[in-house]
Amino acid sequence: MNSRKENGTMKRTHGFFTSQPAAALVAAWVLAALCTPCARAQSETRGEAVAEQAYKNIQVLKGVPASQIRTMMGLMNASLGVRCDACHVPNQMEKDDKENKKTARKMIQMVLDTNEQAFNGHTEITCYTCHRGQVVPVTTPVIGSGLTPPPPPPPAAKAGEGLPGIDQILQKYQAAAGDPGAFGKLKSRVMKGMVTDARGESHPVEVLQASPDKMATLVRMPKGTMGSGYNGKTGWNKNQRGLTELVGLELLLMRRNADFGRALNLGEELQNPRVTGRTRVGDRPAYAVSARTEGQRVQLCFDAETGQLLRRTVMIGTPIGALPQQTDYENYKEVDGVRLPMVVRFTGPDPNSATTTVYQEVTHNVSLDEARFSAPQN
Ligand code: HEC
Ligand code: HEC
Repeated sequence: MNSRKENGTMKRTHGFFTSQPAAALVAAWVLAALCTPCARAQSETRGEAVAEQAYKNIQVLKGVPASQIRTMMGLMNASLGVRCDACHVPNQMEKDDKENKKTARKMIQMVLDTNEQAFNGHTEITCYTCHRGQVVPVTTPVIGSGLTPPPPPPPAAKAGEGLPGIDQILQKYQAAAGDPGAFGKLKSRVMKGMVTDARGESHPVEVLQASPDKMATLVRMPKGTMGSGYNGKTGWNKNQRGLTELVGLELLLMRRNADFGRALNLGEELQNPRVTGRTRVGDRPAYAVSARTEGQRVQLCFDAETGQLLRRTVMIGTPIGALPQQTDYENYKEVDGVRLPMVVRFTGPDPNSATTTVYQEVTHNVSLDEARFSAPQN
């Protein structure tokens, strides 16, 4: 497996196997989770390389886990409404030739210092706080804009008011996921379908799972089989840039995805879950639940009528802010006593990273060779 050296195109490329961080991939096809109050402490405890070890020219993001660099770069793209090449010389990310990169370094330092000094080290100020999707932020109030009413605040349900309790929501979710007896009989699963990227290109996808915790998502692309997986010991991600072994947070998330009994274990996975209010996902009324999972903030939306999970939004925390990744689950179908979403949509701030997976076929208790859970050779 190669180390995290970037050599691909610096342009914001379309498609999920080119520019998306591995964590996004993980989220794209199954379920995800993620954040870090103290990047330094976490990377030490996980034995993961820090950014300055994996990259050539890191000056301000020292001590941050190497696997967070891509997430932070995506976050800066989204916050400023730019592509990688606004700051970087294509294919030579370590170079400091562009003025924007040098400015961005000062800005990163300013964000880190401000949060440290004014917010007790909590990441409250981010690039997006000021930039709002523009390179040059608006600094002067626009004449007349004070007359425009501000957007209404999000509907905040008072704690518990007219809302079901968290236990009730989780119980209903589990009941909707399938009959506990049926879960016990399933040892493996193969799901086949098509994944479509933001440009409308579709590729065949196969998701293999085996109890208790093996998984592989394999996408057949013109240049070979790409994907991600966990073989019970190690996690991997393969894209057009090459093969990467997952470490740190990405590994934790992959392991969660691979948990064959994840639907039954959701209560254990969610730390400090709270029912935060009513919402809608598409045309479905839903209850929103906030929690933390693997140290990251996560919001789950459960169908108010069926109890099914409709949406999971994970905020991938970095020292300069959080990158949200949303996965929607639609068209649940019962197969062998369990209910599975046949349509899974992934979206983040960058519309080019969106994918939709439609499954056409689900088979249980297929015998799967161990080797299939490791990265494909071609
Ligand atoms: C707003 C400016 C900005 C944008 C946009 C941006 N970067 Fe960066 N990038 C930086 C800065 C600044 C650093 C150096 C950070 C430091 O010194 O700690 C950096 C460092 C990197 C590095 C480490 C290079 C090395 O070897 O030292 C990589 C890789 C990278 N960026 C990739 C990307 C990718 C991929 C994108 C698009 C998804 C992107 N960047 C978008 C500003 C940016
Ligand atoms: C407190 C508000 C604030 C925050 C937070 C902030 N910026 Fe800025 N940024 C500005 C302002 C204001 C300017 C314009 C300065 C000027 O015009 O000289 C600017 C300019 C820039 C520019 C140069 C744009 C140009 O064309 O002149 C870059 C690049 C940039 N910011 C990146 C970032 C990044 C990356 C982050 C997050 C790590 C960030 N900024 C966070 C306020 C902020």
